[in-house]
Amino acid sequence: MTPAVADIRSICCIGAGYVGGPTMAVIADRCPQLQVTVVDLNAERIAAWNHDDLGRLPVYEPGLDAVVGRARGRNLHFSTAVDDAIAAADMVFLSVNTPTKSRGVGAGQASDLRWIEASARQVAAAASGHTIVVEKSTLPVRTAEAVKAILAAAQGDAGGSKTFSVLSNPEFLAEGTAIADLEAPDRVLIGGEDDQAIEALAAIYGHWVSGERILRTNLWSSELSKLTANAFLAQRISSINSIAALCEATGADVREVARAIGSDSRLGPKFLQAGPGFGGSCFQKDILNLVYLCRHYGLEEVARYWEQVVDLNTWQQQRIARKVVLSLFGTLTGKRLAVLGFAFKADTNDTRESPAIRICRDLLEEGAELAIVDPKVDAGQIAADLGQAPGPLGSTTGLVGVGEGTWAAAASPLEAARGADAVLILTEWQAYRHLDWSALAAVMRRPAWLFDARAVADAAAARAAGLTVWRVGEG
Ligand code: NAD
Ligand code: UGA
Repeated sequence: MTPAVADIRSICCIGAGYVGGPTMAVIADRCPQLQVTVVDLNAERIAAWNHDDLGRLPVYEPGLDAVVGRARGRNLHFSTAVDDAIAAADMVFLSVNTPTKSRGVGAGQASDLRWIEASARQVAAAASGHTIVVEKSTLPVRTAEAVKAILAAAQGDAGGSKTFSVLSNPEFLAEGTAIADLEAPDRVLIGGEDDQAIEALAAIYGHWVSGERILRTNLWSSELSKLTANAFLAQRISSINSIAALCEATGADVREVARAIGSDSRLGPKFLQAGPGFGGSCFQKDILNLVYLCRHYGLEEVARYWEQVVDLNTWQQQRIARKVVLSLFGTLTGKRLAVLGFAFKADTNDTRESPAIRICRDLLEEGAELAIVDPKVDAGQIAADLGQAPGPLGSTTGLVGVGEGTWAAAASPLEAARGADAVLILTEWQAYRHLDWSALAAVMRRPAWLFDARAVADAAAARAAGLTVWRVGEG
């Protein structure tokens, strides 16, 4: 029997990542009567969630420290005791990673569901009584079938008392605004077949989300809506980036075009910011997953349509690296570039699929020396992403570069710019809007360039300081 709404006292979330941590923190904050336990196999991550210093949580999100500070130890717990937390829970969220498969059938496109399967098996083994299992991870449409099959195999165990309901409740938060998105979501989506289970989950969100924003659908619509939302959002970015290239060729300005088209209420002003291409852990993987599903169902034209959104994005990243090389007289050997920003967007420490990775790799391939700075990304993460340890930068000491690209972390934009031929802005951190261009120009080698792939810097000030300025989408 599915518990009535009032019977949900304890929930557990498997996966203490960028989604599981913030989502459960907000649920615990808004529902003090619920006990919320977030579990993970990664003991280091759990220790970081339990760190006394709220400035050292494993996920950087504005406002997250305050929410965790209010709820942790009261009704929000982080633990590695996965089975105990499952056994105690009336409702278990699966919020594990679902990256693109790297080998085997569907490699490069299909989602790798091994973590979902493992966590479903763990729930099947450790649950007691009736448990509502909620898919929070982004999953291919019809994954709930597999989750249900795994749970069904354990159904009736423990003297017949073990039973399950499966719901889909995809998450739509964006990193950098996760807390605001969770506290005031545009909508909460719940897909399922068991009305009582749906209402039990809706009642949790109902503590702070108004009823008309809680949408109920069947399981498959819910799963597919998440992939579709990400595909449409990413499509807008590829669309505006394609027009940015045309603006550069024709003398138009993509920001003026974006304002003009965004004023049409049918289009709206959001997600029209041209840049170095979209990054983040989800857009590319979710579109590729959609492409894979379309091919699986024999919809080749539909698959090719969505594939183009990713192809355009890759082209945009390569185009920016090429622009830098060609502007600096076709060679970067022995030249220093200051790279400002490495995270895939501002206000996060996440670098997964960051455009900075491909762009920096292409520049290193050309023999550049990169001085990289980011307010929230450390040198260890940059080394892991570039697949290359930091090395000494030679050209400022008078050495002629030998053609091997090197990089080093810099402590500030000013330090990064010392001896550099160019500054390249790859993340739209607020601080980069207010750089002191006369101070930066004074320590750079002449002639000096600014390549602003986010169009955030004060271009007039940079030009006044003597730099040649390129901004994405400016003809
Ligand atoms: P993440 O990699 O940050 O976190 C996943 C966590 O799950 C990891 O810490 C991992 O150790 C843990 N884990 C995996 N298998 C486990 C198991 N069997 N038992 C215990 N712990 C286990 O991933 P994320 O960014 O939080 O994303 C999670 C899901 O949410 C993905 O499907 C993603 O597509 C989706 N999503 C992400 C975002 C986002 O902004 N990052 C937004 C919406 C949806
Ligand atoms: C995105 C979606 O916005 C969320 O709704 C979704 O839940 C999430 O993916 C997910 O499923 O993981 P996120 O990737 O965190 O969120 O961040 P976005 O704000 O969407 O930015 C994604 C990328 O697009 C970033 O690299 C960003 O710089 C870029 N972007 C965004 C642009 O280049 N231009 C824009 O106008 C907007």
